[in-house]
Amino acid sequence: MKTPLLSIDNLGVSYRAGGQSTHVLDGVDLEIGYGQSVGLVGESGSGKSTIAFAILGLLAENAEVSADRVTFDGLEQRLGTADIARLRGADVAMIFQDPMTALNPMFTIGTQLVDVQRRRFPREDRQALWARAEAMLTDVGVQDAAQRMKRYPHEFSGGMRQRVVIAMALLVEPKLLIADEPTTALDATVEAQVVEMLHRLRRRTSASMLVVSHSLGLIAELCNSVVVMYAGTVVESGPVDRVLRQPRHPYTRALLACEIDPYVPFDPSKDLATIAGSVPDLSHRPPGCIFAARCASRHELCLGKPRTKRAEGGHAYRCWLEAA
Ligand SMILES: Nc1ncnc2c1ncn2[C@@H]1O[C@H](COP(=O)(O)OP(=O)(O)OP(=O)(O)O)[C@@H](O)[C@H]1O
Ligand SMILES: [Mg+2]
Repeated sequence: MKTPLLSIDNLGVSYRAGGQSTHVLDGVDLEIGYGQSVGLVGESGSGKSTIAFAILGLLAENAEVSADRVTFDGLEQRLGTADIARLRGADVAMIFQDPMTALNPMFTIGTQLVDVQRRRFPREDRQALWARAEAMLTDVGVQDAAQRMKRYPHEFSGGMRQRVVIAMALLVEPKLLIADEPTTALDATVEAQVVEMLHRLRRRTSASMLVVSHSLGLIAELCNSVVVMYAGTVVESGPVDRVLRQPRHPYTRALLACEIDPYVPFDPSKDLATIAGSVPDLSHRPPGCIFAARCASRHELCLGKPRTKRAEGGHAYRCWLEAA
């Protein structure tokens, strides 16, 4: 099998606060193949952004990170160090939930779209970078890009700002594009447009993508494979059609039941219904299955930690009750 672009084995992250350490990621394995788009799904607080930030070297100061082995584009990397941060802005780019996170209110869009390219294209002059930026802005659907380049972020609507941020990410021609809830800050119509644009991108760029979302519908549309997280643990992963059509883990089934049908066109106005109970206290992770307290199929076996079981086609899940 071809080596993946990114491979992370046994990622753990704890946050220290008030003299106590909270283990928010536990034994996470993640692989993203060249040109593949991987979806990361799970309830709020399950650790999705923490994974994205760990890959980018952007974890908060109070984070402690560990991993057995991390490789990116054939080279070993150390998460949480300058090594991995070096990939940012050249090999890895990120689209955040709130576009203002990535934009500086003090500078024009044009200046920011030029500056973001400097690490990638150190030999190009400002004029060439400006022309590339203007063309990319047109490409992502900003009309009258030549004029828009001279404007400041506050002069753009939310949807237009997200297009600018997507242009910014694409200008560095990253090998990996991470989109963390790229549409949740937008209203429903604009959200649909941004999803459509991500779609076009997917077809056009050879970059790999990691798409973080609450929405299985969005992931079914945009991704080849999906990783389902629960309370900092990967409970199921594999090709999108297998995981979403034949889910093995009770948590994935519950998520799917909430979402109605991920294969009907994505409707951003639908909210995820809630699953009874709440996520365990991560400062005292239960020794057995992490989902047991909320699982309708719970059994005494679930007091022990389930190992990963493998089904056909790269489909894997962590549950005692399902036969492989
Ligand atoms: N700097 C921090 N210090 C302490 N705890 C943190 C910190 N950042 C995140 N956490 C905690 O880590 C857990 C995982 O957070 P994370 O933001 O990765 O979740 P998420 O899956 O991205 O959630 P959402 O869907 O709401 O964005 C949560 O319990 C969160 O409260
Ligand atoms: Mg998040």
